[in-house]
Amino acid sequence: MEASIRSVEYDRPHGLTCGVGEAWAKVPDAPSVERKRELKEQIRALLKREKAVLVAHYYVDAELQELADETGGCVADSLEMARFGRDHAADTLVVAGVRFMGETAKILSPEKRVLMPDLDATCSLDLGCPADEFSAFCDAHPDRTVVVYANTSAAVKARADWMVTSSIGLEIVADLHARGEKILWAPDRHLGGYIQKKTGADMLLWQGSCLVHDEFKGIELDLLRAQYPDAKILVHPESPEAVVALADVVGSTTQLIDAAVRLDAKRFIVATDLGILHKMRLAAPGKTFIEAPTAGNSATCKSCAHCPWMAMNGLANLAEVLERGHNEIFVDPEIGARARLPIDRMLDFAARHKKRVQASGDLAKDGALFSNVGAA
Ligand code: 13P
Ligand code: SF4
Repeated sequence: MEASIRSVEYDRPHGLTCGVGEAWAKVPDAPSVERKRELKEQIRALLKREKAVLVAHYYVDAELQELADETGGCVADSLEMARFGRDHAADTLVVAGVRFMGETAKILSPEKRVLMPDLDATCSLDLGCPADEFSAFCDAHPDRTVVVYANTSAAVKARADWMVTSSIGLEIVADLHARGEKILWAPDRHLGGYIQKKTGADMLLWQGSCLVHDEFKGIELDLLRAQYPDAKILVHPESPEAVVALADVVGSTTQLIDAAVRLDAKRFIVATDLGILHKMRLAAPGKTFIEAPTAGNSATCKSCAHCPWMAMNGLANLAEVLERGHNEIFVDPEIGARARLPIDRMLDFAARHKKRVQASGDLAKDGALFSNVGAA
């Protein structure tokens, strides 16, 4: 395999982007109990007034997840968020998540108004893959099929043949590999490495990473496993190889929640953003969830298993954005139309894949779910 790779530091804010320090500084303080109640009332009324629906990711605050659920919105992984926003009849989508999720919603529904509580909520993978540098990388490898992760800008998607999320990336790359295609993958090196290993595909990897998952430590996880030998280990594939190697299940956020419900274990160690624990506890009551370790003794971390950009979504800025209609996502129509092609390809593939799985009745083939269960 070629050794040539490209990497861009995500922690260096460039242009108008919001780096890790700025993100933590913008995380809103938790309102008082009384203020929370008022804000929730206000948001419910505003969603109705604006004919809007709330589309939230599992990593945002539990209060926002609850509001999305109770008002007919959705709480989901990035693939389901994209599908839900596209198919919903609402005039306005309010995306509680990070910028690439809002952009994907706008690309799929250019006629809808897409709002976000804070437009500075970005992602280290998106920041680490600037469109101009990525485009030059693609130009240098014209023989490769370009597959990008959802966690990228609209301009990067516009340069791609395929977009994938963590719930369907493995299947799509396996299919491309079976057709003899060589892959240029960006930006997450851990997810790319995991897919490469599972499929045997020829993949050239951009060297980006998620600052949350990159901090999980294999050695510390192994020690925790020894402490709880009965626990099953659930890992998001943005985590380093040493962490994935210890997993019982590797999968997208939805697939990890499904595993927590379906697996016959009482205790789970979870290596992904701790925002997911809210849904896991609701979906699997009576089971115990333990956060995977992010650092060794006396070490520091930038995220401590919580994404600072996801944390920028709060009740107050959600109410404000609905009231004032500001923080609208715009995508250049030409870029949007081009970026839609790889997204539609993925959604079509995912729909065909789901039908095949349902017809076979083999849930083990449902995405990456249970992919490591029973592995040596
Ligand atoms: P999912 O597609 O699994 O929801 O992941 C999105 C993400 O940003 C994970 O860090
Ligand atoms: Fe990006 Fe990681 Fe935050 Fe997900 S958790 S939005 S991949 S930085």
